Amino acid sequence: MESITLPSHAKINLGLKVGQLRPDGYHDIRSFFQEVNLVDTVRLERLDADVIEIVCESDDVPHDERNLAARAARLLKDEHDRSEGVRISIQKRIPVGAGMGGGSSNGATTLVGLNRLWNLHLSRAELHALSLKLGSDVPFFLAGGAAVVSGRGEHLYPVRGLAETRFVAVDPGFRVRTAWAFENLEIGLTATPPYISFLNSVMASGRVNLKRLFCSLENDFLPLVSAKNPVVHEVLDLLGRAGSQCSSLTGSGSVIFGCFANVEAVESAAELLQSSGYHFWICQPRTI
Ligand code: C5P
Repeated sequence: MESITLPSHAKINLGLKVGQLRPDGYHDIRSFFQEVNLVDTVRLERLDADVIEIVCESDDVPHDERNLAARAARLLKDEHDRSEGVRISIQKRIPVGAGMGGGSSNGATTLVGLNRLWNLHLSRAELHALSLKLGSDVPFFLAGGAAVVSGRGEHLYPVRGLAETRFVAVDPGFRVRTAWAFENLEIGLTATPPYISFLNSVMASGRVNLKRLFCSLENDFLPLVSAKNPVVHEVLDLLGRAGSQCSSLTGSGSVIFGCFANVEAVESAAELLQSSGYHFWICQPRTI
């Protein structure tokens, strides 16, 4: 095999609670990750020369070894003594710095793709360990689908995801740096909030009670990000008027999503959103 082309999906965090800072410098989180059908395309081509090339038309992502896809290739080369190189061509559709996990997803896709292209025969457990070296959200994308996530992102409880629900992901026009968001968060979590009880029930049953999700959903980054960017309130309000059952930030933002009951509901919402002037994407959950 000389090349391989794979889709690299985005995610939406249906709620996100942040716990204490850990000795390793990361925070414990609890979240429900849902993969969606907004995709980048990652093409990996075997090169004889000992180089890692990134080809991408978007100027929003690094074109050097800071790119998570390039870091994934470097990690595999270093840890498995590979002398060959790879050209990684990324067609970007997932917004960057938006909380939809595009970079992490590209990193996971590159690990999985190079495992095949370079015949490394790495197990799921080995890929999981490598993925965590790239970033906290990368392990989720190895399997995708839907999962309750804890630790800094290393503990994954795969569950049956949402099916009929459709999402509208709105770009509010600014970007958030994840490290900034964690550094500036005031963590005052003591009692068990309804959202954590909801996640516990999902883990116990493997299923999502939508009504319970929508009435308990919380994202700890929302007060911080909206205080700095009041446009967040405008977008939440717009989504509410368009019929969203529940709206919030994904990850630390900046994208704000709304949940709609089904295809018909999202299509009628699209009209209002179109006239608002915001860029938005309609996405559906990816079930595996
Ligand atoms: O893991 P990732 O590289 O995506 O994280 C970027 C930064 O966000 C980390 O360096 C850390 O400062 C912060 N972070 C955190 N706790 C997490 C995830 C990220 O503090 N669970």
